[in-house]
Amino acid sequence: MKEQRFDVWAAGATYERYMGRWSRLAAEEFATWLNCADNLRWLDVGCGTGVLSAVVTARCRPRMVVGIDRSEGFVGSARAAVPLSTHCIVADAMSLPVRDETWDVAVSGLTLNFLPEPTAAVAEMARVVRTGGLVAAYVWDYAEGMGFLRRFWDAAIETDPSAVALDEGRRFAVCRPERLSKVWADAGLVDVSTAPIEVPTVFADFADLWEPFLAGQGPAPGYVASLTPADRDQVRDALSAAVPRRLDGSIALTARAWAVSGRRAVHSGASCAPAAPEEAGGALGDHRLPGDHRPGSLGARGGGGQNAHGRSRILSRCAAGIPGRAAEYRLRRSYGVCGAVVRKSRTRGLTWERNSSK
Ligand SMILES: C[S@@+](CC[C@H](N)C(=O)[O-])C[C@H]1O[C@@H](n2cnc3c(N)ncnc32)[C@H](O)[C@@H]1O
Repeated sequence: MKEQRFDVWAAGATYERYMGRWSRLAAEEFATWLNCADNLRWLDVGCGTGVLSAVVTARCRPRMVVGIDRSEGFVGSARAAVPLSTHCIVADAMSLPVRDETWDVAVSGLTLNFLPEPTAAVAEMARVVRTGGLVAAYVWDYAEGMGFLRRFWDAAIETDPSAVALDEGRRFAVCRPERLSKVWADAGLVDVSTAPIEVPTVFADFADLWEPFLAGQGPAPGYVASLTPADRDQVRDALSAAVPRRLDGSIALTARAWAVSGRRAVHSGASCAPAAPEEAGGALGDHRLPGDHRPGSLGARGGGGQNAHGRSRILSRCAAGIPGRAAEYRLRRSYGVCGAVVRKSRTRGLTWERNSSK
């Protein structure tokens, strides 16, 4: 997909009203559809403001969740939104800064269509999951089922025919189940399946629908920001005329996404089941999670669990903002995250940031 100058992802706070509130509903459905076992290591690619990471943390009883996104602004919002046990890193989905075969599940919500080469991005996700691990994603069906965006682009094209080049339904051919299946198969994944996810998008009134388009985040709001006030009003009026209203003025539409999943090929015993303790130890080398003093626990971030390997000492040093080479090395190894340093944040305890030395 060719990136457009309107594909802006910078201010996480304004994303919530535009898309985050609907993205969360889709993430809930997606997690239900995946129906994964407890105690897995999840990587959320293109985590944005942390919507899917938070849902996985709340619902899937994960062993570990790490979100990765290119936008520093969105990752900043994600860090403030996700539970303390979830980590968010600034990094490029096309070159994940994590080791091969160290995750049980790699997921991506509403992001695949924004990546320059979806098949390469999915192959990159496949690289980092263990044999038998799951790679799954969902994307809005911009061409048909994503009600308010479909109506927005139809209204925009009605008033400005050149907007057709920006129409997400035309740009993002990958957002159809056949294309998603092909991308997953081309990335070498097996047992590929797709499913529709439909969520209600109910707006209190037209202002509730329109105002988020003025906030500048994402392709449609980015396009609106480029219009003159008069042209913007024309699009608004065309959209207003196109949406059905209920008696109380509210607007009830639906948004459909397509979910896709597949597994990294395995010769026997394939499953989405959690790694057995000894298997997990193998995947992570000898390095368990910091503070991981009981099987299946992520351990406290910035707290320091007690165990025989001195992890509490490592965490104490990190929490004091002085990880030291040995501690930083261990933490990198534990998370399979390369090129990242642990920094102390006053409010969030330990956080991860990418540095240049990958
Ligand atoms: C529509 S948002 C989805 C965010 C979140 N997953 C959700 O469901 O709400 C798309 C996200 O893709 C991210 N993104 C775009 N290109 C990226 C890349 N090359 N690497 C990592 N993230 C990328 C953007 O920064 C943005 O946060």
